[in-house]
Amino acid sequence: MAKKVLIATDKPFAAVAVNGIREIVESQGYELVVLEKYGTQEALIDAVADVDAMIIRSDKATKEVIEAAKNLKVIVRAGAGYDNIDLQACTDSGVVAMNTPGQNSNAVAELAFGMMVYMARNFYNGKSGHELKGRKIGVHAYGNVGQNVGRIAKGFGMEVYAFDPFMTDEQIKAAGAIPMHSAEEMYSTCDYISLHIPATEKTKKSINYELLSRMPKGGVLVNTARKEVINEAELVKLMAERSDFKYIADIAPDNAAEFAPFEGRYFFTPKKMGAQTEEANVNAGLAAARQIVAFFENGDCKFKVNK
Ligand code: 3PG
Repeated sequence: MAKKVLIATDKPFAAVAVNGIREIVESQGYELVVLEKYGTQEALIDAVADVDAMIIRSDKATKEVIEAAKNLKVIVRAGAGYDNIDLQACTDSGVVAMNTPGQNSNAVAELAFGMMVYMARNFYNGKSGHELKGRKIGVHAYGNVGQNVGRIAKGFGMEVYAFDPFMTDEQIKAAGAIPMHSAEEMYSTCDYISLHIPATEKTKKSINYELLSRMPKGGVLVNTARKEVINEAELVKLMAERSDFKYIADIAPDNAAEFAPFEGRYFFTPKKMGAQTEEANVNAGLAAARQIVAFFENGDCKFKVNK
């Protein structure tokens, strides 16, 4: 029987990406099924019953989903962060989980700057704003997205600093930034902080009052990573205390209403959309499809993220 590949994306890919995935999958004689904007976990659970492979985005691949997918062999998160996949459940069910690192990173970095300029120019309301040139930006985690942020920041004439506990000074310098040796040092130094850390047990709520209060006057926190890494209550406390501090993110915080008193100092896109470009959808979606084919045809597990 033909292998069945499911694209399950509550936030759909651009049509051009779905067409590209279809070509790759069908050229192998596999069948493609597309489930978009499905809304509820129940709909997702129903759709996975007989699939051999899945491509998802931020969709929640919980234990229930993995266990309901009796034929599933491989699940690919078309994107970088895989905090939405229950990796233990995958391992327990013999399912290989993968991501597609780097494929959507330019899109995320470009949106970070789109939001930074939007904020610096007062939401384009005609009032005098400020420029990014000459400002210091601290990139928190200098991986694929972080390095794209560094590259674009240089085009703006910003000074680029980076902190990444998994990189040496030499690696950070070679990738174009000034190495910082702790988050504390970087937050004390930089006017802008751009977050690119994954959401893990260690990083959740790690961006807290202690760290943020180190930022200089006029500090701006830019979050295109995950809302979970922010200690939201402590961010709200800081913003209440410091009328100079601003927060911009490509996802609304859990308690967005608490930011209402800080009008003019925060901005959130309504849906997580850093990676929402045709290019990123094509890059990540097609990479996912190719990884599925390579897995079934050659046992290729290069991008496996579970044990
Ligand atoms: C990622 O982890 O790759 C980004 O956050 C993009 O997520 P998305 O595919 O849900 O837009």
